[in-house]
Amino acid sequence: MYEIYLRSFKDTTGTGLGDLQGIIDKMDYLSDTLGVDAIWITPFYPSPMADFGYDVSDYRDVHPLFGDLATFDRLVARAHEAGLKVIIDFVPNHSSDQHPWFIESRSSRDNPRRDWYVWRDPKPDGSPPNNWLSVFGGSAWEWDERTGQYYLHSFLKEQPDLNWRNPAVRAAMFDNMRFWLDRHVDGVRIDAAQFVMKDPAERDNPPNVTGLPQAHKPMGAYDAQVHLYDKGHADVHQLYRELRAVLNEYEPPRMALGEVHIFDWTELASYYGRDLDELSMPTNFGLLKAPWTAAGIRAVVDGLEAALPAGAWPNYLLGSHDDRRLATRLGEHGSRQAAVLLLTLRGSPTLYYGDELGMREAEIPPDRRQDPWGMTEPTLGRDGCRTPMQWSPDPTAGFTSARAPWLPVGSDHALRNVESQLADPDSHLNLYRRLLRLRRRSPALRIGSYRAVDPVPPECFVFERSSEAERVLVAVNLADAPLSVVVAGCAGTIAVSTKRMHEGKAVEGALQLAPHEAVVVV
Ligand code: NOJ
Repeated sequence: MYEIYLRSFKDTTGTGLGDLQGIIDKMDYLSDTLGVDAIWITPFYPSPMADFGYDVSDYRDVHPLFGDLATFDRLVARAHEAGLKVIIDFVPNHSSDQHPWFIESRSSRDNPRRDWYVWRDPKPDGSPPNNWLSVFGGSAWEWDERTGQYYLHSFLKEQPDLNWRNPAVRAAMFDNMRFWLDRHVDGVRIDAAQFVMKDPAERDNPPNVTGLPQAHKPMGAYDAQVHLYDKGHADVHQLYRELRAVLNEYEPPRMALGEVHIFDWTELASYYGRDLDELSMPTNFGLLKAPWTAAGIRAVVDGLEAALPAGAWPNYLLGSHDDRRLATRLGEHGSRQAAVLLLTLRGSPTLYYGDELGMREAEIPPDRRQDPWGMTEPTLGRDGCRTPMQWSPDPTAGFTSARAPWLPVGSDHALRNVESQLADPDSHLNLYRRLLRLRRRSPALRIGSYRAVDPVPPECFVFERSSEAERVLVAVNLADAPLSVVVAGCAGTIAVSTKRMHEGKAVEGALQLAPHEAVVVV
């Protein structure tokens, strides 16, 4: 899967913002040049853009800035023609405060839609009903003067939480999902999937006495609490069974990739459902939290593999529109190792646009900042990973004809862009292309089993993927020194290496790895 941050992928109208036609125009890049199997498109719905589309004001249309329903239908048809599946972002936890449902809901206490959102009385002293915090800072409760109650918003105050305990909300939201499934989308990425079910008693969260971040990154003031009661209540499982049943109404059944940030593998595994009847895949952010060492990476993979129920399909990602750029976090060597791991571990990988070029986190001057989170907590701003896709060395990176794209183009675009990297066999992009090609033709890599190989030097992570017909060995040297790894029965050829000059070399018994090298032996 390839995540397309729509606003920044390709602008065809000169607005400085990416659009759906831009994805259509780049379909050959996706399916042939790069060679991915599916695209996940971030929100394109009508929205006041308080959170850049994650505040939806109409779940059944396309924002005119991005195109219209006819363009969307053409996009799906063109993707399917090119052999690509289409996954769309579905945002169930909250709508925009400009959604007609919320406008009605806040109009009076006895409005029929009042209970579609979460309205509560203040405490006797006028303060919010409990201590829950908004992910983006401050209390999760906003006072509404007119009706004299607070409403809940787990994110911005412009993103009121829907009340999923109300059956009418469930029915209406499932119908909204059907609207897109009927337009032939292959799956949904469920935004903030843990948040839809909270503690029905709405107890205060306990303080986070360790002070350590609970997610894969620091979250500022939000880290002051353990988020025990404001998300992930056990009732979420019944809800996802219902949602999965909606996906199963279709032939072939559609899939759900649910955004969760869970680092306890048993809890993560629970989101697949005991009978694999909940989320098709809860997202696995484990490799973003792991120390980038052989032991750190292996602990994530083995931990997850051991916890998964039989038949559950893993997934990995290494970047997203909410995280610092992969190549900035891990550097040149680390991001090449990451490419090999992402495309050879068992399960579905998600590749974030531009990571195939090794795009770096961009510096955003304060007066060009856009992300509301970055406005309140500058160190947490997400603009730096959302800058325009770098197609060419041109001043606007071939992204737009506008003079100023909505976010500045990364300063590394002259070096890291599709055009220049296609011409360089050693580039990041060509490493990804070779890995994707190998994966397409290798049953062991696509569907084979996983087994960690022991004993190996402690700086090395080595694993085997095997199917009936094929055995593939993957070895990653995390050390800054050459290493020799002896693997019983290892014989084959280096099919892909982060050091291209080693590709095609025969291997027998011992594998010689250069510093930082990652190889795939077939
Ligand atoms: C998770 C999304 O990935 C993020 O971009 C968004 O701000 C929040 N959910 C709220 O919808």
